[in-house]
Parts: sequence; structure tokens; C-alpha cells
Amino acid sequence: MKLRKNLIAATMLAGASAALSFMSAGAAQAQGALVMYCGVQEEWCRAMTTAFERETGIKVSMTRKSAGEVFAQVKAEASNPRADIWWGGTGDPHMQAAEEGLTVEYKSPKMGELQDWAVRQWEQSKNRTIGIYSGALGFGYNTELIKSKGIPEPKCWADLLNPKLKDEVQVADPNSSGTAYTLLATIVQLMGEEKGFDYLKSLHKNINQYTKSGAAPAKAMALGETTAGIAFMHDIVTMVVDKAPVKVVAPCEGTGYEIGSMSIIKGAKNLENAQKFYDWALTPAAQKLGAEAKSYQVPSNKSTPIPPQAPKLEEIKLINFDFAKYGSSDERKRLLSKWDNEVKNLPK
Ligand code: F6P
Repeated sequence: MKLRKNLIAATMLAGASAALSFMSAGAAQAQGALVMYCGVQEEWCRAMTTAFERETGIKVSMTRKSAGEVFAQVKAEASNPRADIWWGGTGDPHMQAAEEGLTVEYKSPKMGELQDWAVRQWEQSKNRTIGIYSGALGFGYNTELIKSKGIPEPKCWADLLNPKLKDEVQVADPNSSGTAYTLLATIVQLMGEEKGFDYLKSLHKNINQYTKSGAAPAKAMALGETTAGIAFMHDIVTMVVDKAPVKVVAPCEGTGYEIGSMSIIKGAKNLENAQKFYDWALTPAAQKLGAEAKSYQVPSNKSTPIPPQAPKLEEIKLINFDFAKYGSSDERKRLLSKWDNEVKNLPK
């Protein structure tokens, strides 16, 4: 009887310690992991992943998606979040996520090292998203195609309406792409809403495809699949650096720009690691990886060297972009559904 009791006790003890060690292995695993949704080009996302893993030993599981797609996913997963950190992509869906309570407040010790525009983003989002880079919107064209088709070189937004460019212009869909949403918000701010939508409707006649990702038109231009493309200027510069016959244009009327942002997901299972990544991502060492991966945005840490290839923001006619308004949940939803109803499905 005594032996049986001892045996039961021993079995229970073994079971408990096995459960304990299983639990602590789980905890160790959780401590060593980070799930990141990444909004920049795949090459830069991979460079950040590898460098952070090397530096910290934390295993990063990274998924690259366009800005609007990440927003939709974070929202859909809100009751059981999969991701810990959302790094990169235009600021508007980060602002919307902040307003909708999908992301959390965080103040990094690196804050004092950042450009004003990066900190302003943080303040406007009530401490929930921060600027990591900036870049201007523009367009480009394939110099060989434009010449062979006898189309005058476009210099202004207005030139993209030239009937000779029918089906020759590519841009992303603003529902999925932060680049294309930046275009929508830029045109509305530049021309006023009524004239802006008239412009977008006329532009629609010349669009050959609304792509999912914002940088796709830059690649398509480089490959000669489209004559012209609207994208962030830095994404078109990447094609020029790769020696594609492509020219980058800062539109003559003026243009909008983005503040690429970073947020920590509410309910992050690896919160401490998300904060570690957040602080690290604001350092010059991490931000320098962008240019090494041929991404030529302007970095937000004042000590990160600005890549010489980066379009010079001070030389571009930038509009006074209202990030708070165009990143607000109501305005973003309203403009996107207006674009869906009035532009996207218009017959050509
Ligand atoms: O390629 C990088 C980049 O242009 C970023 O500067 C920007 O934040 C992001 O891509 C936008 O991507 P998308 O338009 O696909 O959401």
C-alpha cells in the first residue's frame, strides 16, 4: 500500500516536473521569438530580419505585405494577434490602427535621436506609431518606350492624362497599397476633392493595371511592361541604380510624401522582443541596412547617413501633407470607398 502511494506520488512529481520543464521550454521559446509584418521591399525586410536575429538571437518570423493588407490582417486578428511588430509601410494605416486601438503606446529611449517628422507622427498617433523613414511620391517612365512610341516626356501630373498614354500608366490599388493611397490623398490635397476625383477618373483611362503592391509599377517600367508608372520616387531610383532605362520625375505641380512607420501590435505575445526590435530599428546601424538593400528612403534617425541616391526632399515641391486627417479612420475609409465607387470600375 505504502509502495503504491509512493509510486503514485513519484509519478505525480515526475508529471509535474515534466509539465514544468515543458512550460519553461515554451516560455524560453516565446522569449526567443518575434513575429513581424514588414511593409517595405522584400530585400530590406530580409536584411532587417537576419541582422536582428544575429544581434539578439531572437528568431524572427517575417511576412512582407502591402500597407493596406497588413492593416486588414491586423484588424482581422485583433482578438488573437499573431504579429508582435509591424515595421514599415506608409503611415496612414498605422495611424488608422492606432486610432482603432489595434496597436499600443510605446516610448523608445531612441526618441531624442529622431527627426521632427518622425516624432510628430508619434505624437499625432497618441504615442502608438513612429516614423522610421520618409520619401516622396512621383512617377517615372521607360525612356526607350516613351521614345519609340513618340510620347512627350511627362513632367507633371497633368501630363499623365495625355491620351497618347492610354493603357500605358500603371499604379497600385489604394485599398492594398499605401503608395496608391498616398497618391489618392495627394491629388485630393493638391487639387481639391472634386477636381482631384475628376483627375483620377481621367487618369483611369490611361491605367493598364492597378497592382497590389506600390513598387510593382517601378519594376514593370524597368522590364518594359508599362511605359509609365506612379510610385514612390525611391522605388523608381532602385530601378535606375540597377541600370534600367527609367527616368524618375518629381511632378511639377508638387507632390505628397510618406512617413514610413512602425507600431507594436496590441496583445503582442512577444511584447518585450517587439520593444527590443523597435528600439533597435531606430538606431543608425539598423537604418543603414535600407540603403545596403537598395532602398533609398530618408531615414528617421538624424545620425543615419542619408543615402546619396535618395531623392532630395528639400529640392522637391512637397505639399503640406495632413497626415492626421488622411490617416484618420473615417477619412481613409471614406476616400477608399469613394475611389472604389467612382474610379476603379469606371468603363474606359
Ligand atoms: O518599397 C518600399 C515602399 O515604397 C515604402 O517606402 C512604402 O512605405 C511601402 O513600400 C509601400 O508599399 P505598398 O504601396 O505596397 O503598401
